[in-house]
Amino acid sequence: MHDQSIILISLHRPACFNQGLVAMDLTLTISSVAAACLSIAVLFVTSKMIQRRRRLSKEEASVLPPVVSLVSLTAYLPTLIAKGLPAVIHDLHARLGSVFTVSLLGLKKVTLLVGPEVTAHFFQASESEIRQSNIYKITVPVFGRGVLYDVDLATRSRQISFCTDSIKPINLRGHVDSMVQEVEDYFAEWGQHGVVDIKYEMGKLILLIANRCLLGKQFRESMLEQVSTLVHELFDNGFHLISLFLPYLPTPQHRRRDKARAMLGEMIHEAVRSRRNSGVAEDDVLQKFLDSKYINGRCMTENEIAGLLICMMFAAQHTSSSTSTWTGACLLSHGHRSYLEAAIEEQKRIIQQHGERINWGILLEMTTLTHCIKEALRLHPPANLLIRHASKKFSVQTRQGHRYEIPKGHTLATCTTVSNRLPYIYKDPDVFDPSRFAPGREEDKVGGKFSYTPFSAGRHVCLGEDFAYTQIKVIWSHLLRNFDLELISPFPEEEWEKFIPGPKGKVMVRYKRRRLL
Ligand code: HEM
Repeated sequence: MHDQSIILISLHRPACFNQGLVAMDLTLTISSVAAACLSIAVLFVTSKMIQRRRRLSKEEASVLPPVVSLVSLTAYLPTLIAKGLPAVIHDLHARLGSVFTVSLLGLKKVTLLVGPEVTAHFFQASESEIRQSNIYKITVPVFGRGVLYDVDLATRSRQISFCTDSIKPINLRGHVDSMVQEVEDYFAEWGQHGVVDIKYEMGKLILLIANRCLLGKQFRESMLEQVSTLVHELFDNGFHLISLFLPYLPTPQHRRRDKARAMLGEMIHEAVRSRRNSGVAEDDVLQKFLDSKYINGRCMTENEIAGLLICMMFAAQHTSSSTSTWTGACLLSHGHRSYLEAAIEEQKRIIQQHGERINWGILLEMTTLTHCIKEALRLHPPANLLIRHASKKFSVQTRQGHRYEIPKGHTLATCTTVSNRLPYIYKDPDVFDPSRFAPGREEDKVGGKFSYTPFSAGRHVCLGEDFAYTQIKVIWSHLLRNFDLELISPFPEEEWEKFIPGPKGKVMVRYKRRRLL
């Protein structure tokens, strides 16, 4: 009231004279300042209260994910047996949403994260928040002591960067000729026509390419049979369920694994010594490792080189042969003739332009074939369950806006098979449709950063993606150019029981030699 009268007086009085003018103006100024201060104080307190309330309601809103007990999981046993783990995860995702925890009698809690909205932290967080190493301890007896998951984080990061550098595009370009040579020689052994198990053929051919590009000419020419046998012994016996919990239990499989690892290791050590002594540089990954140095200038030991080479052989072998086989099965099955025809047309166009030769640049022009491989991988990712450990708690927000807190100590998993078939990202997600990646659609890009994850993503993304595409394109461009092909066995099922699943059983293909142009 008092303030109002002062304002009124000051508004209605003449401006030039009046004794009380100065005093009145002073009163007016003091009162205004007091009012302003009060308003600021009220505003400050109110905003603090709103902030606190917001914080509290956020905390209240973030809850633990829904839990599936072991007992309720038994209802999914028939699905597990008939269709495998991804089918169970698919059903649980449909029922519970994109974040849920499977409690194994309260002893172990596995939180599943499905889809790009909730997997950013899983893929990107630092090792101190989301740990990968303890899950991968299973690889130590296979890759060997002193490498990767057996060493501290700094050493491991450096070793991973040696692997990345060894097959980065500038080095990979040089491998294309060797790949083409291997592929031409391999298929030259086929007759004019016949029937083959394409899965077996791909396994053999990918191993030949790995021998040549990773281990080198010497291995490829004089130790191929021995290396192939040892690699199979090592990988087939190194990854049983028991190895996950008791990797050093002296089971017959573990003994065979250890024997194969020792023999393969010794062969690589010998190759390292003779290469170092000869002073002759070759064009293979072994050579890149010989030339690699740690930050302090130290070269890798024989043991470290052997460990990294075995790791790369392992990471490359089954994933690539499985993808190569799925690509064939998808292209050659009767429902997909239009994509087969499009891939053949692309080869014709490229031959008309460049002739028969293939090099790095020409492979990059094969976009239709690339999309076919990419789509086969989306539907049939060989690494279908990616696993981590939560070293710190974190929270995620689902597409529907539910916020969940994932406690420290949970095992984390994401299933690429389910995540890469989400219907709000991929139209008709179960259909083989390579054109979904073509300009104008690019569903994987529209879906956001973590929508396409057969090669994982973020911190531990596969470093062999380019290598894999290069070798699979070299193989399939040769087949499309030189053979009429037909899938004569039923479209394969998935081998869900395997650690790295592939197509189940034989994948029989009839071939007939022909020239494309
Ligand atoms: C189609 C073929 C391939 C697929 C689908 C594939 C898939 C993957 C996936 C999903 C991961 C990450 C695993 C995780 O996040 O836990 C990975 C990692 C890795 N891949 Fe591949 N891979 C393929 C081919 C290759 C090839 C050809 C090489 C090497 C020549 C290779 C070398 C590696 C290595 C060394 C890692 C470990 C990277 C790290 O831990 O930082 N991969 N791969």
